Amino acid sequence: MAKRTRSPLGSLLDAPAVREAAQALIEAVAQEAATRALSPQAYVRALRELERLRGRPLPYPLLLGRSGRGARVQLADGTVKLDFIGGIGVYAMGHADPDLLETAVVAAAGDEVFQGHLAPGPEYLRLSRALLRHAGDHLKHVWLSVSGAMANENALKMILQKHTPADRIVVFERSFAGRTTTLAELTDKPAYRQGLPLRGNVLHVPFYDPDDPNSTEKSLTALDAHLARHPGRIAAMLFELVQGEGGIEAAPAPFFRALMQRCREAELAVWVDEVQTFARTSQLFAFRSFGLDEWVDVVTCGKALQGSAALFRKAYNPGPGLVAGTFAGSSVGMAVGTRIIERLESEGYLGPDGRLAVLEGRVARRFESLARALPRAVGRRSGIGAMQAFVPFDGRAEVTSDVLRACYDEGLLIFSAGANPSKVRLLLPVNVTDEELESGFTMLEKALRRVAEERDLPC
Ligand SMILES: Cc1ncc(COP(=O)(O)O)c(C=O)c1O
Repeated sequence: MAKRTRSPLGSLLDAPAVREAAQALIEAVAQEAATRALSPQAYVRALRELERLRGRPLPYPLLLGRSGRGARVQLADGTVKLDFIGGIGVYAMGHADPDLLETAVVAAAGDEVFQGHLAPGPEYLRLSRALLRHAGDHLKHVWLSVSGAMANENALKMILQKHTPADRIVVFERSFAGRTTTLAELTDKPAYRQGLPLRGNVLHVPFYDPDDPNSTEKSLTALDAHLARHPGRIAAMLFELVQGEGGIEAAPAPFFRALMQRCREAELAVWVDEVQTFARTSQLFAFRSFGLDEWVDVVTCGKALQGSAALFRKAYNPGPGLVAGTFAGSSVGMAVGTRIIERLESEGYLGPDGRLAVLEGRVARRFESLARALPRAVGRRSGIGAMQAFVPFDGRAEVTSDVLRACYDEGLLIFSAGANPSKVRLLLPVNVTDEELESGFTMLEKALRRVAEERDLPC
């Protein structure tokens, strides 16, 4: 684990009395929580109430409890599930990690629950430093925010201001950028913008197609056509390097390089959305895993960070008043996000031979043996590092839904991604153990067999 130094701006956990008190509180909370599991009836009642309050059903009949361990999460009724989706990528180091809990407890005991941009605290400074340590030679500044969507909104404003009057944005087909009205338009999913007014300034380029040897040429041709049709009007191209919602689809680095080079020549900003990829490939930022440092102008991250941020070159530093907002993040989120980065650095996760790169091979071997056992149930696989997916059976959405439900019943939490085909998505904790993987894949196999039987599908 990383050594903590006793700096006035450092974590207070390096004081033994503080650490002991934090441990005592965590222990007391865990003991008390263990006595408070809901009965099955009370659990169902709580779920129904929550659904009524939300005005819509929950994706899973799931209400979290107060403790877990590693990839295992406890629900409020005391049952335990293996969590291979982590709240869609949030629980990067699994559940109830003792070191992260201590970090959280100490940050929570400070004066500020949330920190704003007007009154930043030491956690704000430490997180900003930690992010920029990994951002390469060109990105010089960072602006913190609370959600991935907010980081993307800030990035977009910085880009539009610098490139004004250019106001069009090029995005990949099947991309996802967030849930604000503007980002819903940058997202290539009609259902997510149903009924919203559209500005009509989004231009599409096909993402990489591994089955098409001319894929790069086709995407370049599409970009060139947009550039020819809208001279001087395109501000940026948005790169989601591994399409998360789009099905955990990555592309080889030369594909991105070719498009980014064209953006550079045409004076478009290169904007990379790392909200889902952050801390999931062999570097903290996937653009560095892909060796794209020299082209990238603005990058956003979130999820595993426990908050969000936009990092940018000096030239994109906005004028006064353009980005602000009350909240920069919660003190706990900032402290835990920083600690996750420190742990990734000090516990050997990063680099070409780091634990994240090794995890990819460990998961691939599990999938290979699953595919040997059930060759017709495990279709095309895709993924990188701690983001993985496969097409179950024939990739129909309703079959994938059945697989998710069957996995849940077996005790495994996963989620879907993509459409036509629809996939099963895994956003694994980076520290998943062999025992957890073994157990999860056993549940997945049972679930696939069950769906095959129920739907009379060959497996
Ligand atoms: C690539 C990408 N960008 C942006 C977002 C939006 O992040 P948030 O849901 O935190 O607003 C997400 C969330 O799934 C994402 O995957």
